[in-house]
Amino acid sequence: MPDYDLLSEQLTGFLDTDPYFVPAMSNAAALLWEALDDINWAGFYIVRNGLLVLGPFQGKTACIHIKKGKGVCGTAWEKDETQLVPNVHEFPGHIACDSASNSEIVVPIHDKSGAVIAVLDIDSPSLNRFTEADRKGLQSFAKAIESSLVWD
Ligand code: SME
Repeated sequence: MPDYDLLSEQLTGFLDTDPYFVPAMSNAAALLWEALDDINWAGFYIVRNGLLVLGPFQGKTACIHIKKGKGVCGTAWEKDETQLVPNVHEFPGHIACDSASNSEIVVPIHDKSGAVIAVLDIDSPSLNRFTEADRKGLQSFAKAIESSLVWD
């Protein structure tokens, strides 16, 4: 279990240096990739022109566009709710970017008005990889990003 408080502190340090979304999300994905065991993808999809578009990530190449309400990411965006999925094969409409993925967690990220502007997505090759403690820790991590991210 990673020290999510420490990860959020490290992320805040990066954001203090430069809150522009490219370095911030790139280093956020790298922090998670280093700290979480048993994962095969960690990164972001960003809301753009009515779609989720692939953002900074660590792991294998991935789907570029996801529609609202589609897959785990599109569902997290539409419902504005973290999706903790113990078995992706049982999730209706799951989008299999990597057939090795078996469980997944997706956390929405908001702008200052409360609208979803991105989602944080982490995949694992194991079933039941993510716990309620991961949900809580990753939601705090997402809050650290959304508090100071800038887009231009
Ligand atoms: N599995 C996701 C798609 C993104 S990849 O996992 C990187 C989904 O169902 O939304």
